[in-house]
Amino acid sequence: MSKKLIWDVPTRLFHWLLVGSLIAQYLTAEVLENAMQWHFYFGYFTLGLVIFRTLWGFIGSDYAKFSQFIYGPKAVIGYASTLFKRNSKAHAGHNPLGGWVVLLMLLLVLAQAISGLFMTDDIFFDGPWRAAVEDSTLKVMGFIHHNGFDVLLGIIALHIAAIGFYSVYKKQRLAPAMIHGKKDTNEPAITSSKWLAFIIAAAISAGMVYYVVEIAPPEVEEEYYY
Ligand code: HEM
Ligand code: HEM
Repeated sequence: MSKKLIWDVPTRLFHWLLVGSLIAQYLTAEVLENAMQWHFYFGYFTLGLVIFRTLWGFIGSDYAKFSQFIYGPKAVIGYASTLFKRNSKAHAGHNPLGGWVVLLMLLLVLAQAISGLFMTDDIFFDGPWRAAVEDSTLKVMGFIHHNGFDVLLGIIALHIAAIGFYSVYKKQRLAPAMIHGKKDTNEPAITSSKWLAFIIAAAISAGMVYYVVEIAPPEVEEEYYY
């Protein structure tokens, strides 16, 4: 076994930017006063991150691809049955169970970001899509936005506990690889971080967010002038 590059730079950058953005979202909504404008901006950025990761799941380097880490039920059950064995097979990329947790986290963040587009702080700020839908839809979006974050926090706690469990119980130290990208493994290394694909995917993601936030929403007539 030797140290090989497994996580490309964009995947690692995505990971730590997502961690930072979610912390910012929590602080701007729950802790800081008068930070709602920043909550919106970071929310749009987080939406961009999830769009980027989705694209990267198709055009990124090998271990970042969905096709590499979304396994069928047989593999998931097989892997789950070895979960508490200390010497279970180490995977270079996400393991069959972890792959689904990754997908779940991405979906929950996406639900949080999309539902945010319909929210209001009841004072100054309305999400860009608020005026476009009926009250019944606003209720559903409000429910998702207020409760989804708690579900997400639960999964994040599980994620961090799992990393700790792998490190202490199975002696598989996963966290450093999310920083420097390298793991001790017999599997093949990736050969590049695909910089051109990265730039294209990042530009498409930014363009999509701009479209969803600035271009597509209906015009709102100003009722008050300050
Ligand atoms: C807000 C908190 C966090 C969120 C939302 C989060 C989310 C994610 C996501 C979405 C992935 C998949 C990465 C990808 O394939 O693109 C991932 C993987 C990973 N995360 Fe986190 N993460 C969080 C905190 C942390 C922390 C604090 C650590 C370090 C202790 C960590 C370590 C890892 C590692 C090591 C992997 C790769 C797991 C593997 O080898 O299969 N994460 N995380
Ligand atoms: C992934 C991105 C996001 C996360 C993690 C997030 C998280 C949160 C959290 C935890 C709260 C507090 C909920 C509560 O008190 O029950 C909140 C409130 C709020 N969020 Fe977000 N949010 C995100 C994106 C957005 C976006 C994109 C917008 C608007 C464009 C938005 C608008 C709001 C508003 C207006 C509130 C205040 C609601 C109220 O006072 O009742 N959020 N958000």
